[in-house]
Amino acid sequence: MKSIEICIKDAVSFAEKQYEANKTSATEAIAKLHDGNGEGNDFLGWLNLPSSIPSDLLDRINKTAERLRENCEYVVCVGIGGSYLGAKAVISALSDSFADFYAPKPNSPKVLYAGQNIGEEYTAELEKLLTGKKFGIIVISKSGTTTEPAIAFRIFKEMLEKQAGKEAAKDLIVAVTDEKKGALRTLATQEGYETYVIPDNVGGRFSVLTPVGLLPIACAGFDIVKLVEGAAEMEKETLHPSDENPCEIYARLRNALYQSGKKIEILVNFNPKLHYFAEWWKQLYGESEGKDGKGIFPASVDFTTDLHSMGQWIQQGERTIFETVLSVKEPAITRRIPEDSANLDGINYLAGKRIDEVNKMAELGTKIAHVDGGVPNIKIELNKLDEHTLGQLIYFFEKACGISGYLLGVNPFNQPGVEAYKKNMFALLEKPGYENETAAIKAKLK
Ligand code: PA5
Repeated sequence: MKSIEICIKDAVSFAEKQYEANKTSATEAIAKLHDGNGEGNDFLGWLNLPSSIPSDLLDRINKTAERLRENCEYVVCVGIGGSYLGAKAVISALSDSFADFYAPKPNSPKVLYAGQNIGEEYTAELEKLLTGKKFGIIVISKSGTTTEPAIAFRIFKEMLEKQAGKEAAKDLIVAVTDEKKGALRTLATQEGYETYVIPDNVGGRFSVLTPVGLLPIACAGFDIVKLVEGAAEMEKETLHPSDENPCEIYARLRNALYQSGKKIEILVNFNPKLHYFAEWWKQLYGESEGKDGKGIFPASVDFTTDLHSMGQWIQQGERTIFETVLSVKEPAITRRIPEDSANLDGINYLAGKRIDEVNKMAELGTKIAHVDGGVPNIKIELNKLDEHTLGQLIYFFEKACGISGYLLGVNPFNQPGVEAYKKNMFALLEKPGYENETAAIKAKLK
């Protein structure tokens, strides 16, 4: 079942010629992905992942999740970047907006996050929340050496061992990491934690459909089988180059717009549940394409909220942007606007309408205004927010990203630039082995 639909009529007219000209290169880019002969071809494990995930792996993930759900009020996912954003995106999209404000229920733990920042207050406040509570940890790091999650894991592991006892803690900690290498693999083996492997050929930002994303999503109570099924359907739908292939359409169009001077893409939602989906998308496109002095800058906004802050810029600022709107056709809940006899607020003309009807008119009105103002508008319509649709959407963006990166002429599967800050941070912290870098950076700061 097709759960997402792309509509380009309000964008393609801005770069018609380039869009047509990109056809051959897109066909070549798709062939490169499938033949595995493009740059970064050792990181193509995500391409056939949905159709090839063994069902016994999904069963094992569900069993582990069940164990954590039975024994925990909170499950803390420790990870950063690709080891965090995919799970957070899906869980936020599917959860009650106020889930975190309800008390935990039996067999239904709250999923919380740590190691996605180095905030001292954040860490201490999470410790405060977890004091005296039953919690478990899923620690996720492909390299097994990333500083942020390493700090958080050290702290929350120690806390869990103190609260639950060292032996009991072992059943409440699950590590998701490389099969053989990295400090986390060594630690997990030594401590005897249950572990899951992140395949070598799947990069962090493409890893949401591996245990990296699937285990936290299952812990939050969502159906990972349906998520993978949705992704597998999109995998099948996008196998061949064609004017109907949504990944080809999106990749060609965003490159055509880029070539015509639109350097910034804003991922827009009219549903706050998709806020973190945009965070995941920004990493996917930002890390994949922002290199060699090239790449569309991926930004995001929540509408209508941000129409009251960023709306002015988008309507009349520098004409270097285009927008891609995630539009959810049918909200899961119906709520109508009530009649008020005094009508002091003047909105009785809306009485009886669904809130979503107003939202949809805001969406349409915004699109017309932005297109008139020179902002191309790509619409991606989602039938509803459920696991199946999100699976399709995830795979859609991943595949389009691979095609788009090749169209742009970069290796979409590496991230050499991410190392620069780490090198400086280690030098400044005087990490053993960084003596030369420490001397050099100190000289620079004089
Ligand atoms: O996409 C990436 O490679 C990065 O964002 C990583 O996911 C992030 O740095 C975390 O790395 P690791 O999983 O090795 O701890």
